[in-house]
Amino acid sequence: MDNAPFGIFTTKGTDITFSNRYNQTLAGLDPDHVTDPDTFRQWIHPEDRERVLAEFAQAVANVQPYETVFRFLHVNGSVRKVLSRRIPLKNVTIHPPMYIGFNIDITALDQMQTRLSRAERLATLGQVAAGIAHEIRNPLVGIGSNAFLLLDEFDASDPRHADLEMILKETKRLDRIVNQIVDYARTRELAPVLCSLNDLADEVVKLLDAAISAKHLTITRSLPPTLTRLQADRDQIKQVLLNVVQNAIDASLDRGAITVTAFELPRGQQTGIVIKVTDHGVGIPDDALAHVFEPFFTSGKRQGTGLGLAICRNIIENHGGDIQITSEVGTGTSVRVWLPLRQEFQFVEG
Ligand SMILES: Nc1ncnc2c1ncn2[C@@H]1O[C@H](COP(=O)(O)OP(=O)(O)OP(=O)(O)O)[C@@H](O)[C@H]1O
Ligand SMILES: [Mg+2]
Repeated sequence: MDNAPFGIFTTKGTDITFSNRYNQTLAGLDPDHVTDPDTFRQWIHPEDRERVLAEFAQAVANVQPYETVFRFLHVNGSVRKVLSRRIPLKNVTIHPPMYIGFNIDITALDQMQTRLSRAERLATLGQVAAGIAHEIRNPLVGIGSNAFLLLDEFDASDPRHADLEMILKETKRLDRIVNQIVDYARTRELAPVLCSLNDLADEVVKLLDAAISAKHLTITRSLPPTLTRLQADRDQIKQVLLNVVQNAIDASLDRGAITVTAFELPRGQQTGIVIKVTDHGVGIPDDALAHVFEPFFTSGKRQGTGLGLAICRNIIENHGGDIQITSEVGTGTSVRVWLPLRQEFQFVEG
């Protein structure tokens, strides 16, 4: 019982009288260290604690079983989501009643569910996007090529010349948006290769050189030469870096500084790498920060579609990593990507 792969505990009334090793670990406690059973309460996530304690006390008062989902918050900040079931031992007629409880770790399940429902949304959006692309692309090509041909018919001083140029510019913009939507919604096959992050960063900086010079920005790269090569889809990771650095450039003020750092950081058993892009630009207000990864969320930049970060998140999560963004208005923004160094699934057969 002590080594069962789920938490087992007993209570007398609401007081815990026994807890197996797994349950200790679940709560973020050292299983080898005997702790005062009551400390469990304090490791329930503050947002869940009051509710769980009150509901369980109510169940105990009525000698009823109790089932709930709550979170444990560990000292290091990690959160475990738990399905908890507590059953009164009916044949024991002592007061307060005794309970046996089971805590099952559903953190991974919960994360998978969130990801799945996002995947479902994406699949629907993919169909819509394919429809849009089909409906818009052909007429767009027609409008664009006709406007281009007509341009020759009017003298540059003719106001209609400027009108036609405007039409051309707008059709190009629409075409770009349609392409981005299709790009966002398509399912990406991963083609992982070993790639050097240093080379990738060089290429990205070179591609964005015009925008960097126009604002007189300095880009500092702090990528140790000993950095292990990353196994990932090179084009996709490059796209992520391009999007993120482009955002940093957009947000920076004249003569601003942007830093790109990378270092190795394992997560559990997995070796991994952190890539961080920090700018000292305008920052993101709190209410906007919660939405930056949503498709079409944009603060209305001249060329923005609002798909950049949404695409980044898809790519990084497809690689089994995650992407986070922290920001303070007036101080700057930091985007932190964690990626596993190896893509394990490709070795799995069948
Ligand atoms: N480094 C940053 N500094 C300040 N704001 C940022 C930064 N990165 C992202 N944002 C905010 O998040 C929004 C969404 O970013 P995202 O890259 O998804 O779209 P976009 O840059 O507006 O358009 P797109 O990337 O499709 O051209 C931006 O419009 C901006 O408001
Ligand atoms: Mg962007």
